[in-house]
This record gives sequence, C-alpha cells and structure tokens, in this order.
Amino acid sequence: MRILVVGKGGREHALVRALAESPGPCELFCFPGSDAIFELAKPVPVTGLESLIDWMQAHAIDLCVAGEESYLVKGEGLANLCAKAGIPCWGPPKESAQLEASKEFAKGFLLRNGIPTARATACATYDEALAAIAGDYPTVLKFDGLAAGKGVAVCPDEAAAIAFLDEVFIQRRFGAGRVLVEQCLTGPEVSVFAAIVDDQHLIFTPARDYKRIGDGDTGPNTGGMGAVASRQLIPQQMLTRIETEIVRPTVAGLRREGLPYRGFLYFGIMLTAEGPQVIEYNCRFGDPECQAVMPLVRGDMAGFCLAGAKGGLRGDLLTFDEGWSVCIILASAGYPESSRNGDEIAGLEATPGTRIYHAGTRKTAAGHWETQGGRVLAVVAGAPTRAEAVARAHAAADPIHFAGLQRRRDIGILHFS
Ligand code: AMP
Ligand code: GLY
Repeated sequence: MRILVVGKGGREHALVRALAESPGPCELFCFPGSDAIFELAKPVPVTGLESLIDWMQAHAIDLCVAGEESYLVKGEGLANLCAKAGIPCWGPPKESAQLEASKEFAKGFLLRNGIPTARATACATYDEALAAIAGDYPTVLKFDGLAAGKGVAVCPDEAAAIAFLDEVFIQRRFGAGRVLVEQCLTGPEVSVFAAIVDDQHLIFTPARDYKRIGDGDTGPNTGGMGAVASRQLIPQQMLTRIETEIVRPTVAGLRREGLPYRGFLYFGIMLTAEGPQVIEYNCRFGDPECQAVMPLVRGDMAGFCLAGAKGGLRGDLLTFDEGWSVCIILASAGYPESSRNGDEIAGLEATPGTRIYHAGTRKTAAGHWETQGGRVLAVVAGAPTRAEAVARAHAAADPIHFAGLQRRRDIGILHFS
C-alpha cells in the first residue's frame, strides 16, 4: 500500500510512525514533511496542492491521510481534490471542515442539532462585540476563522476583552472576520477523538492537553505543551454520556445536513456541572494529543484509514491499550510569542518504552539535529499506571538538551492531584 501523509509536525510524525508500524507492506510518502518524518516517509517534490494531487495520481497513491487542517480548507480542499482524482482520502471535504474553520458555522451546527454548547453571539464590529459582552465577565472571545490556535481569548475583565478586540478589529491580526462572544464555561477539559465514516463512528482513547506555557497552567496559551491519554481519564459513565449526547448527534447532524465525513473528528469538551459541553470541533487529530494517543493504539492503522477512506469502519483492525500515556513537549526559546531556530539538540536517544516525535527540528549537513520552530520535540512514555507513565516520560525528557529549552514539569500531574 502506498500512503501519503499531509503535514509536517509532531502529530504527523506520530501518524507516520503508526502507519509504518502497521503489519502490511507499506510505502510512505509525506508532504511537506520534515527531516525526521523523511526517515520514515519519502518527500514529495511538489510545491502546491494541485501539483500534489497530480503527483499522487501519477505515483498510484492508494491513500491520502490529512494530518493538518489547513489543507482541508485551502483552495478547493484536499479531500475534494482527492475525490475528483479518485484517490481515497482520510480527512473530510472542505464543506464539512467548516466545523473547524468557522467557529460561527460550528456554533450553528451545534445549536441546530441540539448538542450541548456555550451560548454565543456573532459580532461583526468592535462595538457590537462590546455590546454583546454587556459587562458580563469572564467572557470568551473567538475569532471566526483558522488562527493557528491563537484565535480564542478567555477574558477575565474588560481590559483583556478590549486588548483582543483591538487585535481582531483594529490590527486585523487574523485577517478579516467576525468574533463570537461566548458564555464562559468552567470545568475540566477533555479531548475526545472519533474516527467517523459516514454514519458510523469509533471513539479513540480520550486525552487532555496542557495549553498554557507555564507550570500550574499559567502564562500565555500555546499550541499545547503536553498531553495525557488513557481510557481511565474519565469515568466510563461520562464517556457514554459524551457518546450519547455529543458524538452520536454530531454524526447524525453531519448526515442530515449533507456534510460527508471520513476522517478523525476532535471534540473539545468541557465537563461542566451541567454536563459535557462542546467548546470546539477540529477536523483532525489533536497535536500533541495524537503523540500521546498513538502509542496506545495497536493493530493495523494503515488498513483502518484505507478502509475508512473507502467507506468502511473497521474497528476490528484496532485495539487500545488500557494504560496511560504521557507526552511532554520541549519548546524552543521565546515560544509562544516567537521561536528560535538553530539550537543544537543533544541527548536524543530514546530509551526502551519511550518515543520521541519531532515537531520542529532539522538535521544539519553534519548530521546533528537542531531546533526549527516553537514546539521542537514530544517525548512520550506509557505505563499501566498514571504515576509510572508520568515518571517515565519526565525521566525520558531529562537527558534532552538545547539552549533555551522550555518544558512543563506538571504534565500528567496537574488536574489529578
Ligand atoms: P479553542 O481554540 O476553541 O479550543 O479554545 C481554546 C481554549 O479556550 C479551550 O481549550 C478552553 O480552555 C478555552 N475556552 C474555549 N471556549 C471556552 C468557553 N466557552 N468557556 C471557557 N473556556 C473556553
Ligand atoms: N491540542 C489542541 C489542538 O490540536 O488543537
């Protein structure tokens, strides 16, 4: 089987590893990929989406796996172009990927389908947004478009709200677009991933990510500084409730609204006192949750994705480990405001039972790894208990060094004490 994975980060490195470890013979390709991914998947010598499709057709690619969201909504959409070219794609078409690309679309979908979520008002101007907040703090402001994880502000007071509205409507930091003013929910968060194939779904191991840069969940939001995954993360009863009240109605809503879906769907959920509520959808696996979840998945991931892309949900091809998996992100100097490239990385040899995924690295001509981006590495370890997985993951991260390294010490610990 010839599979091409689209993306270049730690999530894609984990996906490529999982595909490479599938039992059948498999030739892997990656676009745009990274030096670390190229050790498992061949680079594709094209630049744009259109030429990628031509290349896949010319090279008899059996399956395209969408890792990263941006290609799903770029131009005509990766999955739409694959469909036209007759290439099975694991990842939804552009119209369905609006669930992630537009917060306003997602909110409408949730409300139309009776899925629990926070109340919200869409606002086109600075003044409309201030009026919708109506002095009710804390409030949550969301830019209505893809903003690389930077488009949401939880505002404790008016000063924070004004600062965000200024970025959106005056500086136009994210380009043109509206803002959702949303009721602020409280409670622990959980990331639930389902593989969706038309009217069927399979829920993967739930995870939790650590969004802020500093220990104790302090400092600015990041793309994610770590994750923990386990079936035991939430009680079975709660998972059943999430499946009944959120996952099933989402799958039914997609069908009802004529939105085709074959791929991973990520449900960002807050466990409020009133029950689980959706805070966001993403049309892909989470990053860094993917790096925590994939080592718990056994079986034939390649066969699973190929069957899914062709319309068959083959849950029988996968099993999920019962234990815990902890993923620690090592970030470069300056992250998340900026990042620093070119710091040499030492101590990269993974110990047995641990995995190191590369998120932002490059290999120099001399064969050394160096930083190339904000999130640099994900160090993952698994164990039957959370305490052991935490100890192993942190011990595995300890020997890795580069100048300016930033890392949280409470990944897998906070939220559980
Ligand atoms: P999102 O990009 O939608 O995942 O939002 C980023 C983070 O903002 C979430 O992980 C939550 O921590 C927080 N957030 C989003 N929506 C809400 C909400 N309605 N109430 C409280 N916190 C929220
Ligand atoms: N970990 C959050 C995300 O992938 O959006």
